[in-house]
Amino acid sequence: MMRIGMLTSGGDCQALNATMRGVVKGLANNLDELEVYGFMNGYKGLIYGDYRMLTDHDFSGILTRGGTILGTSRQPFKLMREPDENGLDKVEAMKQNYYKLRLDCLVILGGNGTQKTANLLREEGLNIIHLPKTIDNDIYGTDMTFGFYSAVDIATNAIDCIHTTASSHNRVFIVEVMGHKVGWLTLYAGIASGADVILIPEIPYDISKIIDAINKRKMRGSGFTILAVAEGAIPKEIAALPKKEAKKKMAEIAKQFPSISYKIADDIFKETGMEIRVTVPGHMQRGGSPCAYDRILSTRIGSEAAKLILERQYGYMVALVNGKIKKIPLEDVAGKLKTVDPSCQEISDAKRIGISFGD
Ligand code: F6P
Repeated sequence: MMRIGMLTSGGDCQALNATMRGVVKGLANNLDELEVYGFMNGYKGLIYGDYRMLTDHDFSGILTRGGTILGTSRQPFKLMREPDENGLDKVEAMKQNYYKLRLDCLVILGGNGTQKTANLLREEGLNIIHLPKTIDNDIYGTDMTFGFYSAVDIATNAIDCIHTTASSHNRVFIVEVMGHKVGWLTLYAGIASGADVILIPEIPYDISKIIDAINKRKMRGSGFTILAVAEGAIPKEIAALPKKEAKKKMAEIAKQFPSISYKIADDIFKETGMEIRVTVPGHMQRGGSPCAYDRILSTRIGSEAAKLILERQYGYMVALVNGKIKKIPLEDVAGKLKTVDPSCQEISDAKRIGISFGD
C-alpha cells in the first residue's frame, strides 16, 4: 500500500490539475494499492487537517480544466515559523497530519514561496516532491514552469486585440502583463504579439528612450505604438538607488498610480501629448484551459514524479532541463529566483528587429 498526500499552494495557474492527473495516473497504473489524500487550499489544509481522500474519478476529465480541484491559498513562507492566532505551531501541525495519515510522501505543486516551505518540510524529515508551477516562469533550476505558456497565449491574445484598435486611433497603448518580479511573461508575450516596446524589471527603463521609440515610429508613418509592460517594470533612476530607497520611491508611485503602467502613461502624455490607454488583463492570464504545451509538460512532470515516488526517491523538484525531465535536489534551488538575463538571445533577437526595451 502506498499513501501519498498532495496540495497546490500559492497563486493558481492553468495546468495544476493536468499535473496532478499525471502523478496519480502514473502511480495508479503501476500500483495495486494506492491512497491519495488531497489537502484543501494549500498548506492551510495540511496545517489544519482539512483533506479528503481522492479517487480515480477525481482525476478523470481534468487534463483540460484550469484552476485546481484542491483549491489554493497564499501562506507566506516567512510566517510558517510563527504560531497562528491561536498559538498553533504550523510546522509541527503539518508534520503531525502527515504522520497521522502515515503518508509515504507529499507532492507539493507551487511556485517560489511554496517551494521554500516544501524544502523546510524536507529539512524537517518529510518525504517531499515539488512540482514547479507558475505563470511567471521564475523558478530556478527548471527551464520551464507549467502555466507559463498558457499565460503567454492569453497575454499575447490581449495584445493582439489591442493592435487593431491602437492602429485605428493612432494611440499609444500600454498592456500590463503579470510576472511578479521577473519579465519572462512580458518578454514572450511582447515578442509573440509584435509589441513595439517591451519593458521588464531586469532592464530598468529610461522614459526618454521610450519616447524616442514612439517618435521613430511616427516618423516612419506608424501613428500608434504598443508597449508590453511588466507589472514589475522600474525606471532606471529608481533602480540605481540603494534597495531600501528604491522600494520607498516605488511605494510613492504606487500611492499616486494604480500601477507602474499608469505612471509610464502619465510620463508619455506629458512629453508627447498623445492619447494613451492602459489595459491590464490581470488574473485573466492565470485562467482558462491549459495550452497544448502545458498539457504535455504537466503530463511529463507528473509522470516523472510518479516514477520518483515508485522508486522512493524524495527531496526533489521535477524540472525541465534542455528538453529532458530531470530531478533536481530541492536544497539546491529553494530560495533562488530565475530572472531574465538582459543579454539573452531572445532580447538581442528582438532588439535586432527594432523592438525597444527602453534602455
Ligand atoms: O505568481 C503568479 C502571479 O499571478 C503573479 O504574476 C502576480 O504578481 C501575482 O501572482 C498576483 O497575485 P494574487 O493572485 O495574490 O493577486
